[in-house]
Amino acid sequence: MKKLIIANWKANPVSAGEAVRLARGIEHGLKKVKAEVVVAPPFEFFLPVGRVLRRAKLGAQDIFWEGSGPYTGEVSWQELKKLGVAYVIVGHSERRRLLGETDEMINKKVSAAIKAGIVPVLCVGEPARIRKRGINTAKNFVKIQLQKDLVRLPEVSAKGGSAAGGKGQMSKVVVAYEPIWAISTQKGAKADTPENAAEMIRYIRSVLNSKFLIRNSTVIYGGSVNAKNAARFLGHPEIEGALVGGASLKPKEFLKIVAAAS
Ligand code: PGA
Repeated sequence: MKKLIIANWKANPVSAGEAVRLARGIEHGLKKVKAEVVVAPPFEFFLPVGRVLRRAKLGAQDIFWEGSGPYTGEVSWQELKKLGVAYVIVGHSERRRLLGETDEMINKKVSAAIKAGIVPVLCVGEPARIRKRGINTAKNFVKIQLQKDLVRLPEVSAKGGSAAGGKGQMSKVVVAYEPIWAISTQKGAKADTPENAAEMIRYIRSVLNSKFLIRNSTVIYGGSVNAKNAARFLGHPEIEGALVGGASLKPKEFLKIVAAAS
């Protein structure tokens, strides 16, 4: 299976010209690459960046659950769909923490993405204070996030229910395990060890399989992935890709991560 590498540009860069330059730099390096690559720029650069992308797919960093209407400042699932967005990051820890995004809101967003045919990339992960209490406490924290964020999805019903999707097919769901303390912009951040990340990802997959009957899932790691450590993460068969923040703003470095995945 192809690994999935997602560039999360966050609120960078600040000009369309720079966004296009970055996108071109990434796109040019993708000729012989076997990974699935997604570039998630800020909303305002979707058009110019979307025009540059050929092999890479366009991603969004957020989605609103209504299709249109009186929702000041939101970007709806219909708008994303019209713009050709293939993947959407949902529930990133920065949105949970800084903007008060709740599990209930995240659940609606995952649901809207599935209905729109956009693959949700659900971010889960524990803060440092939880991880200090050990990996089992962290697993429990992540399990509760998954249970709240993935409840009652349109085509992904909990065990015992039936899959209600048109053709009875499960939608594709991507889960990104991002321990908050490992995100590069956090004070004193450092990447998790590939072994811990792989263990947590195995656990997440077991929760998806047993609780939600989600078999069509991809579970990836995020948190200070860079050109130096990428091969160690992506070499693990359990780690099916990476969500990359800081290093995705440097095309050469990002392409080394993609190369490590292919
Ligand atoms: P980072 O960010 O790669 O800069 O740690 C990852 C993320 O926040 O998605």
